[in-house]
Amino acid sequence: MAYRNILILGGTGFLGAALTNQLHSRGCRVTLPTRRRRSAMALAVCPTAELVEADIFSPDTLVRLLEGQDAAINLVGVLHGGNAQPYGAGFARAHVELPAKLADACIQAGVRRLLHVSALHADAKGPSQYLRSKGDGEAALKARADRLDISVFRPSVIFGPGDSFLNLFADLLKTAPFVPLAGAHARFQPVYVGDVARVMMESLSRSQSMGQSYDLGGPAVYELQELVRLAGKATGRFRPVFPLPDGLARIMAAFMEFLPNPPMTRDNLDSMKLDSVCAGSPLPFGMAPTPLEAVLPAWLHGTAPYDTFRTRARR
Ligand SMILES: NC(=O)c1ccc[n+]([C@@H]2O[C@H](COP(=O)([O-])OP(=O)(O)OC[C@H]3O[C@@H](n4cnc5c(N)ncnc54)[C@H](OP(=O)(O)O)[C@@H]3O)[C@@H](O)[C@H]2O)c1
Repeated sequence: MAYRNILILGGTGFLGAALTNQLHSRGCRVTLPTRRRRSAMALAVCPTAELVEADIFSPDTLVRLLEGQDAAINLVGVLHGGNAQPYGAGFARAHVELPAKLADACIQAGVRRLLHVSALHADAKGPSQYLRSKGDGEAALKARADRLDISVFRPSVIFGPGDSFLNLFADLLKTAPFVPLAGAHARFQPVYVGDVARVMMESLSRSQSMGQSYDLGGPAVYELQELVRLAGKATGRFRPVFPLPDGLARIMAAFMEFLPNPPMTRDNLDSMKLDSVCAGSPLPFGMAPTPLEAVLPAWLHGTAPYDTFRTRARR
């Protein structure tokens, strides 16, 4: 691997843990800035990862974090960022301003290689604030592409140990006698977190991936209601699923927006107006995508993320 030292923004999250794990296996050292070191302690057991508390929105801090790095990766993303046109302030900050600041800091620090995770169908004219802001984030990088070697990854929904998608339904099925489901007919092509991490790692070894954008998906397309039923099957909790009509779904989502970490918002429903399905092959570099059914039962039954590191560290 030509890139030995890598800065990962948002590396303490779900995808970041899988990527850190794979980069560790290739002997790379990663620096993981976080807002709260304590909440990311699970990754502290990885011997090649360094957790640092830092304000990644400060341009000076970014330049300092990039010192001695060979590449930078941006995984920061938010699902809730306020409500405004074309998008709320939280979306603007995390999805547009941050990639631009990181790219500028990379140029200043002389770090040319930059990997960025966006989202499938990200587009400045997309149906949701999430997709519009992700689209403008990509545009901000494109505007600096002459001075950097950028690869962009656009996954459909990502599944795997620690995800906040299928685990959410698995948790709900523990207590709910039935599931009233908003967006039940929305279509997704879920991609395994290990596959997304593998594609990103592989792109670091392939110079032809510079300047490229990759849509990422799994081997099959499902309606949301099918995914909830699969989560029920994998956990042995079979519950009836009742698709909610659109009007009722929006009212329910509007109420959920008052929760501190809403499971569904009206903006999530707006994102679902587009099928989250890849137009072409689901993974690049001739990789075969992992089927959901092959891994779902194992991790929905309680395999925690970071287990590899914990086992190695004997914790
Ligand atoms: N998961 C999916 O299904 C999916 C699908 C398509 C695209 N994506 C994109 O893939 C990327 C990674 O997703 P993920 O599921 O791994 O996300 P995640 O688990 O939520 O992790 C994101 C990390 O970013 C940092 N972060 C979040 N908001 C921040 C903020 N306002 N300021 C500073 N740091 C912030 C957090 O680190 P600290 O708390 O340690 O600071 C967090 O650990 C995101 O860009 C997401 O939009 C994800």
